[in-house]
Amino acid sequence: MDQESTIPQSDPFSLFEIWFGEAKASEPNDPNAMALATANPQARPSVRMVLLKGHGAHWGSGGGFVFYTNAESRKGEEIRANMHASLLFHWKSLRRQIRIEGPLEEVSSDQADAYFHSRPRGSQIGSAASDQSRPLPDRKLYLDRVASLEERYPEGDIPRPPHWTGFVLSPLAIEFWQDRDYRLHDRRRFTRSSPTEAWSNTLLYP
Ligand SMILES: Cc1cc2nc3c(=O)[nH]c(=O)nc-3n(C[C@H](O)[C@H](O)[C@H](O)COP(=O)(O)O)c2cc1C
Repeated sequence: MDQESTIPQSDPFSLFEIWFGEAKASEPNDPNAMALATANPQARPSVRMVLLKGHGAHWGSGGGFVFYTNAESRKGEEIRANMHASLLFHWKSLRRQIRIEGPLEEVSSDQADAYFHSRPRGSQIGSAASDQSRPLPDRKLYLDRVASLEERYPEGDIPRPPHWTGFVLSPLAIEFWQDRDYRLHDRRRFTRSSPTEAWSNTLLYP
């Protein structure tokens, strides 16, 4: 049986890049899909999937992972009350998991505009028309809003609603998990006390 860990002690952003590249090559769809966990002021957690839309050392104060959403949604309200979150990738084709934890900051309005307007026009309209997470008595109401935005802006980009924005999670912990035979799995956890400090790492019992 192989004695060594297969998870190197390299910089966790570089290691993420390698694993993400392998996931893009092997996952059937959405290799950038990740679970985002937030908690409300009563410390009750909630989780949903979002898409990773930026990552690496140039984001946030010491590197980060970026997603975009409606800040008036349930997750948006929870983030406003508690600017900490946790992300999870599970790539089934590779039998790998990555857990990421840390504080959040909002992206600049220029960054939010740039990403919003990089999306297809139909997606811009769909998100501008959505009061995400609010009750919708009848789906027709949503489709009517879509139609009225199409009429109001017959071509080109749609203005980004001010509550449609992005967040950068600056990780204080990143844990890599690799399936191994006989459930003798391999885990390495990288931690740092602030986004500008150096990383430490340790293996964990699986
Ligand atoms: C694969 C996948 C990717 C998704 N990506 C996003 C995303 O990037 N941003 C977003 O706001 N919602 C995304 N959603 C929808 C969310 O999971 C969720 O339904 C929505 O954001 C409302 O969540 P909330 O009520 O907790 O705020 C995605 C759903 C799936 C299944």
